[in-house]
Amino acid sequence: MKRKTTLGEFIIQQQSEYPEARGEMSQLLSALMVSGKIINKQVQHGGLTEGVLGATEAENVQGETQQKLDILANNIIIEAFEQRQEVCGVASEENEKVVLLDKKYKENGKYVLLIDPLDGSSNIDITVSVGTIFSIYRRITPEGSEAVLPDFLQPGRQQIAAGYIIYGSSTMMVYSTGNGVNGFTLDPSSGVFFLTHPNIQIPETGPYYSVNEGKMHLFPENYQAYIASCKLQADQQGALIDGRYTGSLVADFHRSLLKGGIYLYPPSTFHPDGKLRLLYECNPLAFLCEQAGGKATNGQQRILDLQPTELHQRCPLVIGSPKMVEAFEAF
Ligand code: AHG
Ligand code: MN
Ligand code: MN
Repeated sequence: MKRKTTLGEFIIQQQSEYPEARGEMSQLLSALMVSGKIINKQVQHGGLTEGVLGATEAENVQGETQQKLDILANNIIIEAFEQRQEVCGVASEENEKVVLLDKKYKENGKYVLLIDPLDGSSNIDITVSVGTIFSIYRRITPEGSEAVLPDFLQPGRQQIAAGYIIYGSSTMMVYSTGNGVNGFTLDPSSGVFFLTHPNIQIPETGPYYSVNEGKMHLFPENYQAYIASCKLQADQQGALIDGRYTGSLVADFHRSLLKGGIYLYPPSTFHPDGKLRLLYECNPLAFLCEQAGGKATNGQQRILDLQPTELHQRCPLVIGSPKMVEAFEAF
């Protein structure tokens, strides 16, 4: 039986479809693949390795306590890109300002990278799936100069690649460069990512809705009404749809992508714009979701059409199966 395609082979195949490509995207994706393997090793070690679990005394710019693994993952990714020429700057949940990569030759980098290095931090110490989310744009200011804020504040529809690595019962890298979504599973024994989920299409509707019920009373009326309707409606087979919420956006999104479903992080009195960040959580997942045939809105507009104004701005997120997002929009 023919073995599965590796991520490396897939990237080369994809590149061969772009005669003008000079391999930068391939270098970018391989840097993310390497970072994912190194982070995965730390995640799998958990309490076995000093300095992986637990919180630091520090807070990030969002005022959230930084977990040790947040910082570890952030450093692993930034170091991986310092070894390469393609990226001239990185915006991260864990850094208040943009991280400009080494002056030597980075200023010729064509791309900028935006990351949530470790999503679902509250789950690290209890071994529930966590993930890394990434978003890539071509810079809009001339090469040969330092990357500046406008390079990072582009609408999500300008993304040239986006994806995530989920560290779960198996470790997967799921990404799109604009022609569909493909999923790769890491074989821990060989350290190779193999293509296991080619051309992922999100089901039109699904058996799950995903929202933090604990904050239900804080959500706007229309969100509460939609969620109440989820509890009442039955699918074609008459089965009620279930609630599933892990506290890791990547895990809740991955389930919705593969099985169908809807994830909501609504505005609330605590978070008038929701809690999730537009640049490195909502935009990359919205890009992936649309590439897989799904939809993503902030309650008023398509996520990918939003014009960002600051690096860490938050926005409400309703994302998943198209029929379920459309049903929400009717509320
Ligand atoms: P992060 O760990 O990167 O800060 O992201 C956590 C996010 C997201 O992963 C998750 O869905 C959401 O926060 C959970 O928030 P609540 O605990 O408020 O539901
Ligand atoms: Mn996150
Ligand atoms: Mn995070």
